[in-house]
Amino acid sequence: MCKKTVIEAKIIQNQEIAQGVYRMVLSAPEIAAGASCGQFVNLYPKAKHTLLPRPISICEIGEDTLTLVYGVVGEGTREFAGYNAGETIRVSSAIGTGFKPQKTKTAVLVGGGIGVPPLVELAKQMSGEKIAVIGFRDEPFLKEELEKAGAKVYIATDSGKTGFKGNVIELIQEQGISGDYFYSCGPKVMLKALAAYCESINTPVQVSLEERMGCGYGACVGCVCKIKENTETGYEHKKVCKDGPVFLGSEVVWDE
Ligand code: FES
Repeated sequence: MCKKTVIEAKIIQNQEIAQGVYRMVLSAPEIAAGASCGQFVNLYPKAKHTLLPRPISICEIGEDTLTLVYGVVGEGTREFAGYNAGETIRVSSAIGTGFKPQKTKTAVLVGGGIGVPPLVELAKQMSGEKIAVIGFRDEPFLKEELEKAGAKVYIATDSGKTGFKGNVIELIQEQGISGDYFYSCGPKVMLKALAAYCESINTPVQVSLEERMGCGYGACVGCVCKIKENTETGYEHKKVCKDGPVFLGSEVVWDE
């Protein structure tokens, strides 16, 4: 099991920023001090029937605060959405192996839906030119935060209601967006297509496989993925919640 501390943190803000997507700001100096971009925390619901924690990726790390952006997808996250500022919530220390920001001339940050939040802290921690290409079904969020972190932002939506109509890879190609390093977080189908695209242009990409997580705790084994290794089979099973969620796109075995 992953070693972690759990504290009772005060909620400073918990607001809906897009339909079914909430930003929660916690006062948690001790957790913020040990956190890095691309990691996640476990949030604990109070309701007895949903005792398992929910892994939520870190969107921003402040001096004393931690900002989490989460989608309401089940009972636990529905409960979180009902909390008000001033209440407290149990939260773990930061878990997992996150992004490793590289020294680059131009970094391209590619996010899909609820995979966009970790890119905000990543953009904040990187120098050099930053381009964010973010895709949504319909309603975008976190554009301003990425711009504030110094990124030029391109938006794609499935509906075409905002920005480019299509997916992020089509947008990258249409706009001729290029860089010397890519980072990405979002649905597996997007990450897989981006890893193939990056391979075709001979550019490295770090991918966050957080969509695959279950308990975020090392307990459910629901998060295992295959990572290329010099073994008899050519791969090894790794836990997304512990060894990841971030891996190199080129080391993930995508066809499972
Ligand atoms: Fe449950 Fe990794 S998410 S073991």
